Amino acid sequence: MLNEKLLNLLNQQVNKELYSSYLYFTMSNHLHELSFYGASNWFKKQASEEFEHATKLMDYIHQENGKVHLEAIKVEQFKFQTLKEAFEITLKHEQYVTSLIHDLFALARELKDYRSEVFLTWFVNEQSEEESSVNTLLEKINLIGDCKNLLLKFDSELASR
Ligand code: FEO
Repeated sequence: MLNEKLLNLLNQQVNKELYSSYLYFTMSNHLHELSFYGASNWFKKQASEEFEHATKLMDYIHQENGKVHLEAIKVEQFKFQTLKEAFEITLKHEQYVTSLIHDLFALARELKDYRSEVFLTWFVNEQSEEESSVNTLLEKINLIGDCKNLLLKFDSELASR
């Protein structure tokens, strides 16, 4: 049986992951409209991953006999024009998600809910990987600078994610 406060936070996290999925689909569509087709694909894949994260959390709540509560999702429409801005928004968002996962992990530990702590370890590691990969992409974008040819090459590399 899950502690009530932990269950509420887990549900909140389900909704945050679904929000992330929706956000990245929105960004993918916007990038497509800007003709960054590779990056559009990258964000579409990212959106699918976020959906999987939400599914993982819902499955865990059910496994522990909890109830899932889904909320309406409203996503901010970002009006960015560059890949740099898109990945900066992503990094900021992922850092925020990391802080939420850490709060969840800390609560599970405080409650001595070892099962939840072990379950959440996967998310702690996943956040570290996500932040690291977005940081690497931002470093590359900074190296590319204003060179349009390199930027297009970089965009086409993102198509293979
Ligand atoms: Fe599921 Fe990117 O956080």
